[in-house]
Amino acid sequence: MKSVVLCASPRVDGNSRALAEAFAEGSISAGSEVELIDLSESVSGLLRDCRTCRGEDGRCSIKDGYSSLLLDSLLPADAWIYATPLYYYGMAASLKNFFDRIVCYQSASYPDHQVVIEGIRGKRSGLLVSAEEKNQASTLGLVNQVQEISRYFKHEFVETVIGSGNRRGEVRFDPTDPLAAARSLGETIFTAHHSDYDMDSERSNAVWPESRDAADAEGPYADS
Ligand SMILES: Cc1cc2nc3c(=O)[nH]c(=O)nc-3n(C[C@H](O)[C@H](O)[C@H](O)COP(=O)(O)O)c2cc1C
Repeated sequence: MKSVVLCASPRVDGNSRALAEAFAEGSISAGSEVELIDLSESVSGLLRDCRTCRGEDGRCSIKDGYSSLLLDSLLPADAWIYATPLYYYGMAASLKNFFDRIVCYQSASYPDHQVVIEGIRGKRSGLLVSAEEKNQASTLGLVNQVQEISRYFKHEFVETVIGSGNRRGEVRFDPTDPLAAARSLGETIFTAHHSDYDMDSERSNAVWPESRDAADAEGPYADS
């Protein structure tokens, strides 16, 4: 199993990168593969007007690393992880641009759009955020947006890790230890309990297997 971590900060040795590296440590310790990709290195062009920008063959004509990023690295991966600083209460522009440009590949004008749509669905996802402010409301919009995008992609969104820090690497001093949380997310990204239910999702009334076992041991009325 492989995760790709999209690193959105222009500071390549900053706080969100530290969270991404901790995630990678956890993934490797759990025996899975991980690739960290610096978005500002691989993607330089902004989304344009597809009607004027698309080539005659329907393909995106922006000459940067986006096509290879999406088709060669991201589609074959099993989890997409987003590592971003909080910028003006949202994601960094490079990450938003990454999402915006998917439209060029999923829309019907792109010859292989079905391959792209099939290739995107069915993964797991997670979010790593670094922010100066500790106020939980400051990250709500970002978390909500990434969860909605995950739902739209048919990804199982596993967890958000938020670390506080402003100076480069300062996140390691956050007493809530977000680096440990990112490491743990890396370890469990493919095994962690996922709980976005539909009303007809088949499930037990107990969330955790240990609780189910305890109820079984306690007898038939234990969980009423
Ligand atoms: C353009 C910009 C906008 C920012 N906006 C916010 C913000 O809205 N809220 C906040 O808590 N921190 C904000 N910050 C601080 C960063 O989120 C914080 O320094 C973060 O740790 C940077 O992550 P990095 O080291 O990965 O770049 C902003 C920083 C910059 C440069």
